Amino acid sequence: MNTHVTGAVSGLAIFAATAVFAEPQAEVLHYWTSGGEAKSVAVLQEEFAANGGTWTDMPVAGGGGDAAGTALRARVLAGNAPTAAQIKGPAIQEWYEEGVLADISAVAEANNWADVLPASIAGHMQCDGTWCAAPVNVHRVDWIWANADVLEANGIGMPTSWAEFNTAAEKLMAAGIIPLAHGGQAWQDATVFEAVALGILGPDGYHKAFVELDTDTLTSDEMVAVFDQMRVMRGFVDSNFSGRDWNLATAMVMNGEAAFQIMGDWAKGEFMAAGQVPGEDFLCASTPGDGFLYNVDSFAMFEVSGEEKQQGQALLAELVVGQKFQEVFNLNKGSIPARTDVSLDAFDSCAILSAKDMAASNEGGSLLPSYAHGMALRGAQSGAITDVVTAHFNSDMSSEDAVQQLAAAIANSL
Ligand code: GAL
Repeated sequence: MNTHVTGAVSGLAIFAATAVFAEPQAEVLHYWTSGGEAKSVAVLQEEFAANGGTWTDMPVAGGGGDAAGTALRARVLAGNAPTAAQIKGPAIQEWYEEGVLADISAVAEANNWADVLPASIAGHMQCDGTWCAAPVNVHRVDWIWANADVLEANGIGMPTSWAEFNTAAEKLMAAGIIPLAHGGQAWQDATVFEAVALGILGPDGYHKAFVELDTDTLTSDEMVAVFDQMRVMRGFVDSNFSGRDWNLATAMVMNGEAAFQIMGDWAKGEFMAAGQVPGEDFLCASTPGDGFLYNVDSFAMFEVSGEEKQQGQALLAELVVGQKFQEVFNLNKGSIPARTDVSLDAFDSCAILSAKDMAASNEGGSLLPSYAHGMALRGAQSGAITDVVTAHFNSDMSSEDAVQQLAAAIANSL
């Protein structure tokens, strides 16, 4: 009995000693490698270090995170999961179902996440009632960015309809300016496509198509019109668009080579990192039509052994949802805080517009998850849609064929 008690006491003592002396460690897999993104992730690294943590960086270049997703899968399959990875949307639940995610409920509860996060965001971070991911921001996807001087010199305003966009683009082409800066990568095609789809189908139609996967909507005349508009836009990109990274497309708008880019507000992070000022050097507006497509970046922690790593996970989770961090990180990233209690006083006009539109669309039922950025569907379904979108954009496929292929691809993926 005595031995037993002694054993228990010394066990506790060892635990206390490790809890005090263990240095939190985190190996973090992410895909934030552009100028604005690197500045943002540096904020996190600094804060982690300031709190005694050791950060091992595992950046996997590739916008939209496809390459990072592949690298993550390889690591987990090899039994060597990183301590934390930037994953989001239904992929969080997919990983959870594989039994490889750590439960971060203790951190979430100690820091009242349920009270400071909007229910729509909190829902994405939960798995079977436990907390399985930590949100850092809300990116809006349905944005159009423009070079202010180029628009002014050509007597063009920010388009409020797709017809207006097309007219402006024709005018710019005639003036020798590339109307649309675009990078021909599947996820960028999907980004433009979902913004066009939201505008043409409207919020309800978007929901039916990309959340409910409703066949009638996927094959409707309106969806044909969406592909028609994509075909028109194919004519507004330059001949070197294939494979171009999104931040290089943003640079084309910055330097006046191109007038517009349709991209989420991580593009704003690039403009800001280059010292450009919204409303002066560049302009932002939501793409034509109603609604708001949200994209919430988050970190999930993987089951790992070792006190240091587990403490690193707890520290990382606590920091990323912290009030001050959410302000500083998002000022660099182009997004707005996920928390509702962060002051927007230091934010620019595009961020203020985003927050205002998000609140209004939440009220009006038009706050919608981005399919292109992995918030609406599981990987098999979103991948099936993107394959058709990109095949159509890069060939002479008719819009009618595209909608039929879309419905077939979805049916095969279910
Ligand atoms: C998005 C992600 C952003 C940004 C962008 C470009 O999917 O949410 O944080 O990294 O891709 O890579």
